[in-house]
Amino acid sequence: MKFDHYRTPEIIVDSLLQSGFMNGAATLLEPCAGQGAIIETVLKWHPETEVSACEILKQEFDILVNLPVAAKLGNFFDWKVYRRFDRVICNPPFSNYHEFFRRCFELTNDGGKLAFFIRTPMLSGKGHCEFYKEYKPSQIILLSDRPCFLGNNYDISGYCWVIWDKPSTDHDTIVTWV
Ligand SMILES: C[S@@+](CC[C@H](N)C(=O)[O-])C[C@H]1O[C@@H](n2cnc3c(N)ncnc32)[C@H](O)[C@@H]1O
Repeated sequence: MKFDHYRTPEIIVDSLLQSGFMNGAATLLEPCAGQGAIIETVLKWHPETEVSACEILKQEFDILVNLPVAAKLGNFFDWKVYRRFDRVICNPPFSNYHEFFRRCFELTNDGGKLAFFIRTPMLSGKGHCEFYKEYKPSQIILLSDRPCFLGNNYDISGYCWVIWDKPSTDHDTIVTWV
């Protein structure tokens, strides 16, 4: 699918928030927000959060703007952002996951955290290993639910949340199963 538009189910976002990821954070960046599925769940848990979001597809953006967020239509990599955020939550287009992460890391406050939702095969392989050596995750949450994004029950991949602290953690990555 062009731009990898898949909506993130609420229970997937719940599994991140149950871990205490937001923990009093004031500001959130969602860099490729789609219709705002992640944001909707965050605002249910933490209605006080100040959210900034970007989305490249006009038809998704037109739904996103109904949420109480500062929303930008366009390519995230062209967006001139002159501030930083306490938290980033992202279900990225998997084809440029590292690129999304690097730009989001730049836009995260010191003391902040980032969470990316990915397929478990993206935890290994040469390119991914180099990436994780450069940016060591503080935690990986492996999910027992296997959401089917393709709508045909063929999407049998495992999924997880990868969480980073900024600056990067100096402890070993903690792996949890939920
Ligand atoms: C996997 S979907 C996730 C959508 C939404 N965050 C959610 O969880 O439901 C990825 C989204 O990234 C958007 N996208 C892809 N490339 C983008 C870019 N360069 N800048 C902004 N948005 C982009 C797609 O249009 C799509 O809505």
